[in-house]
Amino acid sequence: MGEPPVLTIDGPSGAGKGTVSRAIAKRLGWHFLDSGAIYRALALSVLERKVPPQDEEAVAKAAQEMALEFSSGDSGQILLAGRDVTARLATEECGRLASKIAAFPKVRQALLAKQRSFRQAPGLVADGRDMGTVVFRDAPYKVFLTAALRERARRRLLQLQAQGLDVTLDQIIKDLEERDRRDRERKEAPLVPAQDAVVIDSTELSVEEVIARILRLLPPDIGNKVLPVLAGSGG
Ligand code: DC
Repeated sequence: MGEPPVLTIDGPSGAGKGTVSRAIAKRLGWHFLDSGAIYRALALSVLERKVPPQDEEAVAKAAQEMALEFSSGDSGQILLAGRDVTARLATEECGRLASKIAAFPKVRQALLAKQRSFRQAPGLVADGRDMGTVVFRDAPYKVFLTAALRERARRRLLQLQAQGLDVTLDQIIKDLEERDRRDRERKEAPLVPAQDAVVIDSTELSVEEVIARILRLLPPDIGNKVLPVLAGSGG
């Protein structure tokens, strides 16, 4: 009662959650939680501090000690112990290790309070794997955003190429498959749609179409005000 509303957007890597969640938060004027960035920051912390990544206790301790800040405003900067690590966190190295250490129950537990602290008025859009099933189980609005593997890989390829990285589609498909399998098959908070989540497949949809579908799930007094005008999208 009285808790600010949360819209959770979960799904596999590369389904477009980041772009869509950020845009919706901005349009609604709500806070935004990129929970994957917290796992990635912990991965970077583990790498830099030479914490043995297979040691659950040691990684959970690093999670408790991590000094992580998300800058407010549009820059989207992420600071680890005061240093801007935004670009480092986007690397495949951090993504892959994040997925591995995210399987440890003690690590997930250690990061819960940090994630829940983002729930502030007027509302929160939370992007991740277990936002609707664990972290904000009581959220009133839940989406599971997915897309075909090949399309997710194609989008990721464009992103990485834009960053000047030399990768192939086949390599990305392999990486995504491996990460999805690990995220889906882990015992603790596996990647599954919450029972009360609306599943949206973005394979054939533009970013604006996905945003419009999600905004229509919100009560009219919240969603309609910021619905994009879509040329010829019959809904
Ligand atoms: O969304 P992302 O690719 O930045 O997330 C990186 C990894 O972090 C992902 O493969 C699994 C883990 N993760 C998680 O276990 N739970 C979350 N809520 C978010 C991310």
